[in-house]
Amino acid sequence: MSREKFADYGTVLEGWYWGMRSDELAPGTARALNLMGRELVLYRGENGAVVAMDAYCPHMGAHLGEGWVQGDSIRCVFHYWKFGPDGGCSEAPCFKGTPPASIRQRTFPVEEKYGLLWVWTGPAPRYPVPCPPELEGEELDFAMGRAFRKNCHPHVLLINAIDENHFASVHHLPFPLHMESETLGRSAIEFRNDTRWPDDWWFPRWIGKLYRGAATYKLTYWNGSTGAVTLGPDFLHFYILFVLRPSADGDGRIRGEAIRPNPKGFWGYLWSAATFAFQPSVGRGGTEGWPIVVTKRRKGLAGWLFNRVVLFVTGIVGQYFAAGDSWVFRSIKYRLKTPVKADHAILKFIQHAEAQPVAEGWAENSPPPEPRGAAILKELETA
Ligand code: FES
Ligand SMILES: [Fe+2]
Repeated sequence: MSREKFADYGTVLEGWYWGMRSDELAPGTARALNLMGRELVLYRGENGAVVAMDAYCPHMGAHLGEGWVQGDSIRCVFHYWKFGPDGGCSEAPCFKGTPPASIRQRTFPVEEKYGLLWVWTGPAPRYPVPCPPELEGEELDFAMGRAFRKNCHPHVLLINAIDENHFASVHHLPFPLHMESETLGRSAIEFRNDTRWPDDWWFPRWIGKLYRGAATYKLTYWNGSTGAVTLGPDFLHFYILFVLRPSADGDGRIRGEAIRPNPKGFWGYLWSAATFAFQPSVGRGGTEGWPIVVTKRRKGLAGWLFNRVVLFVTGIVGQYFAAGDSWVFRSIKYRLKTPVKADHAILKFIQHAEAQPVAEGWAENSPPPEPRGAAILKELETA
């Protein structure tokens, strides 16, 4: 049966998703994580390596997050079965000798990057944790912004950045964008602007001189949940990652909040962007995410200081863009019922999302399966 994958909370596309902050998991500790409906335990072994595995013990369903980390393994608190980083049961007091190899807990690939722990929602990653393509192979410097919640699905947030129409109405951009797309492998798609800064008055004409051709504005999306923005003049590109996931508690609603009108005009918009950090967050669910600003590592103290400035400026640019739309995402119920020509990039994104592999059965590990009492007793007697 084919189902719609775009902006559907019931479908998890296979890929990398952020789980928690790296510094939330100290060596020798375990934490429970509900990742898009699946109950997991993340633990950091005493050697510092992080393991993600299904939460419920294959013996009787105790939550392994209650257990103890021992070496590179985790021990269930109930009957002391111990599971290693590959999910195998290495020790259990009730078995003489090694437990049967058939006792396994499902594990998932984990990476640490940008101060976050990332979990791959399938057996083996098909690509690395997302990185702005221009920075691939570079050593990175980064800064995390403030975690946020929005009242809509991550896809709806991501397509905002390629919504050509709204750059004039919401962001007051003085020239039209036109986003050309290119697929990068099966799970990534890139959109690039191919229009230039206008030359009708001195300010944009002056900015336009910093670009050899089109105004650099590029979006790269991976499995519909992480987006990288690349923008800026030819001599210095800025990179912002929007690391998103559908939130565990589904789509939130505005509750008893007065909906303030969208700020009018350029100055109203600027005011809204400047005060964005102080505005109440009304979303309860939908999307949980992080803005992360990235640049390449530069050498020495001067390089480090330069990077602080670059990352700070990138953060302001990111906030400027994010703030303009915050009003819309409080209440939108996304339906592209009347697509127009300028929505072509959005339609490409939707098409891309529909072609993504799905993490089948992702949210089905909770609750644990029913025991088949009589059948199991018989199996045990004959074993
Ligand atoms: S429930 Fe985990 S060892 Fe029994
Ligand atoms: Fe926007």
